[in-house]
Amino acid sequence: MPPRINIRLRFPLATNLHFTHRTMSTIPTTMKALLIHKQGGPEEIKLETIPVPTLGEGEVLVKVNYAGVNFIDTYLRGGLYPVALPFTLGQEAAGTLVAVHESVKDSKLSVGDKVVAYVGGSYAEYVKVPAGKVFAIPSGVKTSEAAGVLTQGLTALTMLRESHAVKKGDWIVVHAAAGGVGLNLCQIASHFGAHVIGTTSTLEKAELARQNGAEIVVVGGKEGELQAAVNKATDGQGVIAIFDGVGKATFDVNWEILARKGTFVTFGNASGPPPEFSPLKLVKGNWKITRPTLNNFIFTPEEFHTYAAELFQLMHDKHVRLLISHVAPFTAEGLVEAHALLTGRQTVGKLVVEVSKDE
Ligand SMILES: NC(=O)c1ccc[n+]([C@@H]2O[C@H](COP(=O)([O-])OP(=O)(O)OC[C@H]3O[C@@H](n4cnc5c(N)ncnc54)[C@H](OP(=O)(O)O)[C@@H]3O)[C@@H](O)[C@H]2O)c1
Repeated sequence: MPPRINIRLRFPLATNLHFTHRTMSTIPTTMKALLIHKQGGPEEIKLETIPVPTLGEGEVLVKVNYAGVNFIDTYLRGGLYPVALPFTLGQEAAGTLVAVHESVKDSKLSVGDKVVAYVGGSYAEYVKVPAGKVFAIPSGVKTSEAAGVLTQGLTALTMLRESHAVKKGDWIVVHAAAGGVGLNLCQIASHFGAHVIGTTSTLEKAELARQNGAEIVVVGGKEGELQAAVNKATDGQGVIAIFDGVGKATFDVNWEILARKGTFVTFGNASGPPPEFSPLKLVKGNWKITRPTLNNFIFTPEEFHTYAAELFQLMHDKHVRLLISHVAPFTAEGLVEAHALLTGRQTVGKLVVEVSKDE
């Protein structure tokens, strides 16, 4: 059993007996987690019993209710990105703060608070998180919604602020516009005043992208159609930015639709990683290319809190609207199915795993 002597309760016993009592008596020594021992196919995902994490300096413990499903799970599971094994999957969690390490002095959070966390290893009953990567769930936001919006919403918001700071009147392209990040990009970019041209594989997804802010949607990726749509909308100028989480399959067409001085934001590999290329490719339009990762935008606690606060404000004001299209059970089969739906292009919006009942 891991030692727990460093964990201190944030509330005086007299004022928060319920939480302190529950915290002290209900944190078990072991927990269930969805993990892999080997990178590979979905069959490598196992539900196993492992120790509840022991808190170190600056960390807090969250009892997980919901964990968001993200495409990156499939890269980490499949081997595109290296991991140390065994590896518990999951990138974000929402649930109850159940313990705080004594070294955490300045957190506004208290044991018993509902929180959302940007953290690896979130498909587990408990997850330890650096205190700076935990955000109190605002009132009116469900725990499932907080888990569902954090990673994809922050990815969209940070890229629209920093990868290409989108301005009123900009024409931009968003690939996979009905996906998790895609819908958030359409919503936030249109709220910021940009004109969004989306791409999707089906008419149903196109309709959803339109409902979420895309003005034009090109369906099915037929040769020449995206170029024609961009040319028509921009009088042949091209789009000033492209947000591309598809990767390999959309890499070539992007150079045909980018305006002079435009920015190609390549942020994912849903169809496989984009190919290597020479910087000379950028000369034609004084183009910029950037390959952001969310972690570098929200690296410090201040960055994380500033962006999380802005995201939840956008959600409060209905500029970000979450669509949870699939809730997976906390089983190996449940996560296998969620991954299959995601990689099979059969999803829209967000998928979450219900790890435990939200009390
Ligand atoms: N850089 C970062 O920090 C960061 C953070 C979060 C997410 N991401 C990336 O953002 C992208 C979207 O992530 P998400 O979780 O929101 O997933 P998602 O967009 O909900 O799902 C991926 C979508 O990509 C499209 N797609 C096109 N070709 C595909 C193919 N060969 N296989 C599978 N899908 C294909 C599909 O939409 P259509 O059927 O409409 O084509 C599919 O629904 C991923 O590449 C992910 O890695 C990056």
